[in-house]
This record gives sequence, structure tokens and C-alpha cells, in this order.
Amino acid sequence: MSGNAVDEQMVLSGVSVAGTNEFGEKDDRLHNVNLTIAPGEWLYLVGVNGSGKTTMARLLAGLYEENLMGTVNRGFAGESASPIVLQQPKAQLFGESPREEVRFALEWRELAPGSVKARTAEALEMTGLTELADLPWEKLSGGQLQLAAIAASAASRTPLIVFDEVTSMLDDANRKIVLETAEHIHRSGSAVVWVTQRLDELKPDFRVAALAGGRIIFDGNVRKFLYGETGHDSLCQSSGLRVPYLATLAMQLRQLNQLQDPLPVTAEEWRKVMGHFAGADSTARYT
Ligand SMILES: Nc1ncnc2c1ncn2[C@@H]1O[C@H](COP(=O)(O)OP(=O)(O)OP(=O)(O)O)[C@@H](O)[C@H]1O
Ligand SMILES: [Mg+2]
Repeated sequence: MSGNAVDEQMVLSGVSVAGTNEFGEKDDRLHNVNLTIAPGEWLYLVGVNGSGKTTMARLLAGLYEENLMGTVNRGFAGESASPIVLQQPKAQLFGESPREEVRFALEWRELAPGSVKARTAEALEMTGLTELADLPWEKLSGGQLQLAAIAASAASRTPLIVFDEVTSMLDDANRKIVLETAEHIHRSGSAVVWVTQRLDELKPDFRVAALAGGRIIFDGNVRKFLYGETGHDSLCQSSGLRVPYLATLAMQLRQLNQLQDPLPVTAEEWRKVMGHFAGADSTARYT
């Protein structure tokens, strides 16, 4: 691994990680992956179980992987490992309360002792945990534990932070809070890799990389991933992931010539489409 200029892209070239599949046969966990991430970018990483998301997430976070081939240049993310937030927050909590957790994370990253207190308070505030900061874990809900793990990961303001299916155990309300917190971290300048199997979390006009069997099968715009192009199945449909109900509806309406590309994704875009339908336009679109 090499390179650490702050404005340099992270580049994975021809990366393979050898492993074994569930039958004990030799099988690459990642196979000949090429991927670049720009400073401050938001990248969704999607794929079914076993497609290689966590292997890729760990690699991007700069964690050691055995049997790695190819080159990884972490560019703006630097040489030291980036924080990675996991599906099960309990697996990564070391402290005894949110405040202690954040403090430990900052001390581990060797932040100047004079700044630790203020930075801890700021991370707790951002995640809405100020009131709960000194409670022991058993008094917090699963969503609050996840927010504490995120506070600890975000406090050091690293140039990259990786979220590996952090919403999969959460209800809709907590999922929204966690996602908004990640978006806040992104707006403050960190690049974010957001691993998920829930396609309804994807925002249009962001970038998504889809993995299948350890290979990147798509790397591009979310809307294109969800909808492909007129007359063609989208890669999302063949990825094995659950296609959101509204995306299925949009494609069916397109097939019936009731809806034109670009198809709607967000609630706001759907509202515009519904306006067209209410006005009895022959073919609706949101633009
Ligand atoms: N430490 C390991 N050694 C060998 N093979 C592994 C190891 N960890 C995972 N694998 C295999 O590598 C493949 C990719 O696993 P990975 O955990 O990256 O997938 P994933 O997409 O994150 O799956 P999930 O959605 O279940 O979290 C799987 O076939 C898995 O069995
Ligand atoms: Mg995983």
C-alpha cells in the first residue's frame, strides 16, 4: 500500500482476496476488483449475502486482509485504518458509556489531550446522545448503541468512514436517524462508504457499486442501477436484492408507456409524477 496525499483518489487495481466458500472449496472473496473513490465522495456498496461487501468494506477501511493480490493505494484516506461501523454495535464497544467510548476512540487516535473533552461533547451532540452520554450500555436501545458506535467513529473526523450494514438491525425511526447522522458526517467533508442490502436507502444521482460473487457487476449512478434503460432489465433486478416496491411500480408503468425515463426515485419526484397523472397527461414524468 502507498500514497497519502489528501486530494488523491483511493484506487484499488486488480484486487483479489483468496478465500473458501461455504463448501470449503477455493473461491475468491473478491475477484479482480477495480475501484476508485474520490475525497469526500459518498459510495453505496450493495450485494446479496456473501457477495463480498464486508471483505471490500474492510479493505477500503485499510484493515489487514490475508491473501490479497493486486494494489491498494489509499490516497486521501491515508495509511492508518479508517473507522468502520459494524452491523452489531456491541461487537465494537469498548468503553462503558457513550462518553467513554468516544473518549477512548479519540485517545486511540492520539488527539491532543486538550481537545478531547470538546470533541467528545461535539460527537455526542451530533448523534443526539448528550443526555444519555453517561448511561451504561444496558440502559440504551439498539439504535442508541449504534449511534454511540458512530459517534466514536466520527469524532476523529477521519477523511473516510465506512458503514457496514449498520441499519440492518434497526427499526425505521432509528434507521432514519442513523442515516441522517451519516449524511451529516459526509457533509462535514468525510468520504463515506455505505454498505447495505436495502435499496430503499439509495438516493438517486449518487454512486453505487454492486457486488456479486466477489466481482463488481455495476459501478455508476443509482437511478441507472435501479432502472437500467428502457427495454432492458436493470442490473438491480438481476442482482438478487429486493427491488423496492416503488421502483418495481415505476418500471411497470414505463413498460406500459405510462412513465418516461428518467424514472422517479424520491418522494418529491413521485409527487410530481402523481401531479401528471392527476392532470391526465398521457405519459407522466417527474422532470
Ligand atoms: N475470513 C474468511 N476466510 C475465508 N472466507 C471468508 C472469510 N470471511 C468471509 N469469507 C467468504 O467470503 C465471501 C464474501 O464474504 P463477505 O463477508 O465479504 O460477504 P458479505 O457480502 O459481507 O456478506 P453478508 O451480507 O452476509 O454480510 C463469502 O463466501 C464468505 O463465506
Ligand atoms: Mg457483510
